[in-house]
Amino acid sequence: MCGIVGYVGYRNAVPVLIKGLEKLEYRGYDSAGIACVDHQKGSLSVIKEKGKLGILKEKLGDFTIEAHIGIGHTRWATHGEPSRANAHPHVDASGKIALIHNGIIENYAVIKNALQKKKVRFLSQTDTEVGVNLIGSYYRKSPKLFDAVKRAVGEMHGFFSFVLFSKDDPDTLIVYKRSNPLVIGLGHGENFAASDVTALLPYTRQVIYLEDEDLAVITAKEISIYSLKEKAWIKRHPSTVHWDASQAQKQGFPHFMLKEMYEQPEVLKNILIKRIQKNGEIFFDTVDRKFQKRLRKIKRVSMISCGTAYHAGMVGSVAMGKYARIPCQTEVSSEFRYGTPILNPKDLVVLITQSGETADTLAALREAKDKGAVTLAVVNVVGSTIAREADAVIYTHAGPEIGVASTKAYIAQLATLLLLSFYMARIRKTIPATDLKALLREFKKMPEHCAKVLKESKKFDRCAEKHYTRRNFLYLGRGCNYPTALEGALKLKEISYAHAHGYAAGEMKHGPIALIDHEQPVICIAPDSLTYDKMISNIQEILARDGIVIAIGTEGQKDLEKMSDDFFSIPKVPEILSPLLTVIPLQFFAYKVAVLNGRDVDQPRNLAKSVTVE
Ligand code: G6P
Repeated sequence: MCGIVGYVGYRNAVPVLIKGLEKLEYRGYDSAGIACVDHQKGSLSVIKEKGKLGILKEKLGDFTIEAHIGIGHTRWATHGEPSRANAHPHVDASGKIALIHNGIIENYAVIKNALQKKKVRFLSQTDTEVGVNLIGSYYRKSPKLFDAVKRAVGEMHGFFSFVLFSKDDPDTLIVYKRSNPLVIGLGHGENFAASDVTALLPYTRQVIYLEDEDLAVITAKEISIYSLKEKAWIKRHPSTVHWDASQAQKQGFPHFMLKEMYEQPEVLKNILIKRIQKNGEIFFDTVDRKFQKRLRKIKRVSMISCGTAYHAGMVGSVAMGKYARIPCQTEVSSEFRYGTPILNPKDLVVLITQSGETADTLAALREAKDKGAVTLAVVNVVGSTIAREADAVIYTHAGPEIGVASTKAYIAQLATLLLLSFYMARIRKTIPATDLKALLREFKKMPEHCAKVLKESKKFDRCAEKHYTRRNFLYLGRGCNYPTALEGALKLKEISYAHAHGYAAGEMKHGPIALIDHEQPVICIAPDSLTYDKMISNIQEILARDGIVIAIGTEGQKDLEKMSDDFFSIPKVPEILSPLLTVIPLQFFAYKVAVLNGRDVDQPRNLAKSVTVE
């Protein structure tokens, strides 16, 4: 949430900041702004606008600035409405210090009150302006910015990261991290800071992931890191980023979401190559013998996550119960962390997250660790906070996902969790080797099946054209496709703003059936499964009330095809693998409905890709 980028070096900072913000805009797009010190005049320029980055870019056309230090921000509003006044960067009352911020200063009201008593005037409603003014008040007493920041953050509650500089020292950026992500990019004669490595990829692959309570001083030539936790200057070792920068481009697709949907067969293929060895064993490179030993002793599993990742966790939970025969619960992170969970060292808590930064999932991880549970992160973004803090991590290797609505990261989470369940089944000896072999043989066909379903996408387009003006949709599924119903509904809500409700089909009679009439589309996920006949009965009940049935089934289900207004089929696969395919038509449906309604598919209103506030 909120994208932040900082630069100091030999290039002109302005285009570097803008390019960085282009990559970070998915984190929030309520406003955008930059601050830099004009190299010739030595003056501080702050240019910011309400709305998307494009508006700021237009505005920047009116200026010619040559600067060698600067900071840029793209905002997802927390304190104060989206407006120019609330846009970052914020400047302290002396007009010297400019700061950008991601996160929340929880006790900002108390600090603001105290500063107002000292006659500090505020121009915005943000907690950020309070933060920069607290730093400014200490800086005025003793003009050492590092010391002022150190003192000020000690008084601030909450979780946040900052990048700031003072125009008195236009060669030095100061950055601070507490919980929210911050990564430093290492260059030659230049250095960078950003909330996400994607902003750094055009310039460098050498990065330092800051730890909590790190306060770094960055010049073009040097990086010094002071740990407030360890009360000492420390060394943090750089890592190399292996992501392909071209993966973060649209490559001719009209939207990132569509491009990412088309990448799904490749994502599946890569996961299978990485995770299934030639001898047929499932392999996780990051799970060592010691951790495997801990896994053998596990008596209960909790899958904890938010949003789309929560739906992946639900499918994982079904597989864990069915194959590894371990009691497994799924919970959203925000409920888990405040629900006083009962955990012990025989509990495995699996944290599923694309970004590895979601605030509630991070808090859930810390709660689980505190209570002595074994923690395992299933994460896409390499080096993210959750990946680093969990006892072990399994990366999902989906590559950068830019579209706010998650698609390929979901498929990667599903595939990884299914493999994890089979792996647990194997080490607990709850699945015969021959059964596992047969299952993995089917799994290996999934990239091909996935490509086939994608190819037939045109059909989904026609269905969307029929229904895109409707405002209410019901999604029904059972077993491992109940989460598919939830995910299909979430996709539609997120990007088309239509109301969509996912329900367990068996619960239809307990309420949603009251909605059904000739205007109610019901998307029924009914592939070949143990509960297929039950789904057919549900569909009969919908037809008896004149509802519109859009069915996702398996090839050859003539009965279902006849009953449905629209029918899409997936190839015949074992039930547990079917969620990898059934979700694809639903992604297409949501995408097409959103496009037909003229929505901003990649940056839907009010949403952000990475939710780093509670
Ligand atoms: C936001 C995103 C969703 C994502 C959820 C969890 O709501 O818009 O796409 O599923 O956060 O994010 P995570 O990074 O933890 O998977």
